Amino acid sequence: MYRLLLRCNSDDWGDAEMTAINAVTDLTTDGELGVITIDSPPVNALSADVRDGLAGAMAAAVADDAVKAIVLICAGRTFIAGADISEFGKPPRGAALHDVQARIENSPKPVVAAIHGTALGGGLEVALVAHYRVAVLSAKFGLPEVKLGLLPGAGGTQRLPRVVGARKALEMVTTGTPIGAKAAAEFGLIDAIVDDLRAGAIHFARRVLAENLPLHRVRDKPVLGVEEGMFDAYRRAQAKTFRGFEAPEANIQCIEAAATLPFDEGMAVERRLFMGLMTGLQSKAQRYVFFAERQANKVDGLDPDAPLLPVKSVGVIGAGTMGGGIAMNFLNAGVPVTIVETRQEALDRGVATIRRNYDNTAAKGRMTAADVDTRMGLLTPTLDMGALKDADLVIEAVFENMDLKKDIFGRLDGIAKPGAILASNTSYLNVDEIAAATSRPDHVLGLHFFSPANVMRLLEVVRGAKTDGQVLATAMATAKTIGKVAVVSGVCHGFIGNRMLEQRQRQAMALIVEGALPEQVDRVLFDFGFPMGPFQMSDLAGLDIGWSAETSKGETIRDRLCEAGLRGQKNGRGFYDYDAQRNRTPSPVAEKIILDYAAEKGVNRREVSDAEILERCLYPMVNEGAKILEEKMAQRASDIDIVWINGYGWPVYRGGPMFWADSVGLAKVAEALGRYGIAPAALLARLAAEGKSFTGAV
Ligand code: 3HC
Ligand code: NAI
Repeated sequence: MYRLLLRCNSDDWGDAEMTAINAVTDLTTDGELGVITIDSPPVNALSADVRDGLAGAMAAAVADDAVKAIVLICAGRTFIAGADISEFGKPPRGAALHDVQARIENSPKPVVAAIHGTALGGGLEVALVAHYRVAVLSAKFGLPEVKLGLLPGAGGTQRLPRVVGARKALEMVTTGTPIGAKAAAEFGLIDAIVDDLRAGAIHFARRVLAENLPLHRVRDKPVLGVEEGMFDAYRRAQAKTFRGFEAPEANIQCIEAAATLPFDEGMAVERRLFMGLMTGLQSKAQRYVFFAERQANKVDGLDPDAPLLPVKSVGVIGAGTMGGGIAMNFLNAGVPVTIVETRQEALDRGVATIRRNYDNTAAKGRMTAADVDTRMGLLTPTLDMGALKDADLVIEAVFENMDLKKDIFGRLDGIAKPGAILASNTSYLNVDEIAAATSRPDHVLGLHFFSPANVMRLLEVVRGAKTDGQVLATAMATAKTIGKVAVVSGVCHGFIGNRMLEQRQRQAMALIVEGALPEQVDRVLFDFGFPMGPFQMSDLAGLDIGWSAETSKGETIRDRLCEAGLRGQKNGRGFYDYDAQRNRTPSPVAEKIILDYAAEKGVNRREVSDAEILERCLYPMVNEGAKILEEKMAQRASDIDIVWINGYGWPVYRGGPMFWADSVGLAKVAEALGRYGIAPAALLARLAAEGKSFTGAV
C-alpha cells in the first residue's frame, strides 16, 4: 500500500484534499467529511487491492482529526458487486474482509454507505457494517452467493435478518434474488433514497453529525419475525426447487442460527458452513459456470469493439410452437416483430397463443394489462412475406424440411433489404445448404432457440462456413439484449446440444431393450439432477414428432408405440399413462411393446444396474462432446457445458457434461466407454492418457 497526497482542483471536490490510498481507492475530505471512493472496474469486486484500499482509507479517515464522519461510495457502474470470485480457491492475499468490516463497524466516526448499481454479496455485507445506508432509486440489493453454491460469508446471514427480519432474509439468501431500493427502504435496509448519490450521501452524513445520531451497529439488533416451525415449513415448501443443491440448506441453517444464537456464535456457524461449501465440488462447479457463461458470449478471433449491425425490427416466418415463442423474446425487449404465416387460421392461432401466454403472465401478477397491450401492439401479423422488406433480422421457424427452408430463403433473398440478417431456427439441417439458396450466404446463420422459446435461456448461434464476423457478432449481442445465453456452434447434425442428446437417446432406447424399463432409466437421470428422464421427455415432446402412419414400418419401439395410438402426454398415453392432473404411472401397454420387441430380437433381458444406466447415458454424450471439440464445432469445452445447463436441464451444480467428466476423471470415462463397446474419441483418449482434463477447472 502506498500513500500520495495531492491537491485536487476538480469542481466536484472543490478544494478537497485527496489521498490516493492505493490504485483503486482514494480518500477525499469535504469539510468535516471523509469520502472514500472505490474505483475498481468493472464491478468494484472486493479484490485484495480493494480490501487493502478500504482498510487503509478507513484507518486514514479515523486517524484524521478533521474528519468527523465518513462516506463510502463507488465510482463506475456499481457499488461493490461482491467478493472477487476469481480469487476463490487461491491462496489468500491482502487484508481479510472480516478485518476490513470490523474497521468500518467499530469506527468511532459514523460511516454512511452510498449505493448505486448492485450491492451484492460481499458488497451488501460491507454496506451492512456501515452505520447508515443511502441509495439511488435504481440500486439493487442482494445476497446471490447461493447461485455460486455458497452462502454469504462475511456476516450477511447474521446481519441481514437483523434488518429485514427472518422471513425476508431466508428468502433472499436462498433464492439470491435482489430487491430494489423501494423495497429496501421499506424493510429498513437503507435509511434514505437520494437523487444525486454523492451529494445526497454527504447531506445525509452532515445530518447525522448535526443531529448527533447514534452509531447504529446492525449486529446489536435482535432478529425479528421468528416464528415457531418457520424453517422446517420453508424447507418443505421449497424442497422441489432446492432438490440436489447443497447451498440452500446451508443458507437456511445460517438464518436459523441468527434467529436462535448470539451474534458471534451465529457468525461461527456461518464461517463453518461457508468453508464447507467453498471447498466442495458444487460451488466449484457453479463458480465455473458463472465465468463459463460470460466466456460463451465471446467469439474467438472477433474484435469485441467492432461496430454491429442494427437490429431494430425483426421478422419471424412461421407462427407455430417456435415462431410464437421467438417473437415474444423480441416483443419483451421492445423490438417490433412482423410474423408471417401461410394461412390465416395458423396466423390467428399463433397470435392467440402469444396473447394467451401474456395474459397468463399478467394473471399471475408478473406483468400489467398495459404491458400486455404494449407488447401485442409491437406485433404485426401478416400473410405477406413482402412485409419483411424492412426487417433487420428475419428468423425462419417453419417445418423442419430442407426443400421448404431453401424455398423460403430463396424468396426471402429477393425481399429482405441488403444488410439484413437471415436466420434459420432449424434443429438439425445444414445451415450452409440453406444459406446457399440465397445470394448472400455471408448474412445467413442459424439461431437455434429451445422450446419454450420465450422461457429457455439457451440460444445456439450456428456459424455457417460463409457467415460474416459482423453478422455473428450482431447475433451474439442480440442474444444478450433478449436475455439469452448464446453459444456459437459450427454446422453439424444437431449442432452441439441435439448432437449430444442423440447419443443419450440411443443408449436409453438400447437399455430398455436389454433389460431396464423406462421408469428406471428416468429415475436414475432424475436422481442425477435432471428435471426429467429421457422417456418422460419423449412423452412431453410427443412420440409422433416426425412420425407418420403412412410411412411407419413398425421397426422401432417408437413406431410401435405410435401405431398403438400412444402419443405421449398430449393424449395421456405414452411410455407412461397420465391422468387429468398429468400424474404418471408406467404404461403396461408400452411395457408389453418393449418386452415383445426384445423377445423378437432374441434379446435375453437382464438386470441393468443404476450405475450402468448413468454411465451409458452420460459417457457417450461426453464422448460426443469431445468429438465436437476435435472438429472445432464448439469453441471451448465450457461452451458445451453452457449448452447443456441452459438448454437441457443439466444440473448446474454438476457443472455441465465436460466439467462433470473432468470431476469423474477422464481415464475412468474412457475405460468405461471401452467396456461398453464404444471407442473413446481421440481427444478424450489423449487427455485421459496424459492425465489431463477438458476444462482445467476441477
Ligand atoms: N468477481 C469477479 N469478477 C466479477 C464479479 C465478481 N464478483 N462480478 C462480475 N465480474 C466480472 C465478470 O466476470 C465480467 O468479466 P468479463 O467482462 O471479463 O467477462 C465483468 O465483471 C462484468 O460482469 P457482467 O458481464 O456479469 O456484467 P453485468 O453488468 O451484466 O452484471 C453484475 C453485473 C450484476 C454485478 C454481475 O456481474 C453479477 O451478478 N456478478 C456476481 C455478483 C455476485 O455473485 N456477488 C457475490 C460474490 S460471492 C461473495 O460476495 C462472497 C461473500 O459473501 C464473502
Ligand atoms: P410448428 O409445426 O409448430 O410450426 C411451424 C409453422 O410454420 C406452422 O404454423 C406452419 O403453418 C408455418 N409454415 C409452414 N410453411 C410456412 C411458410 N412457407 N411460410 C410461413 N409459415 C409457414 O413447428 P415448430 O415446432 O415451431 O418448429 C419450427 C422449426 O423450429 C423447425 O425447423 C424445428 O426443427 C425447429 N425447432 C423446434 C423445436 C421444438 O421443440 N418444437 C426446438 C427448436 C427448433
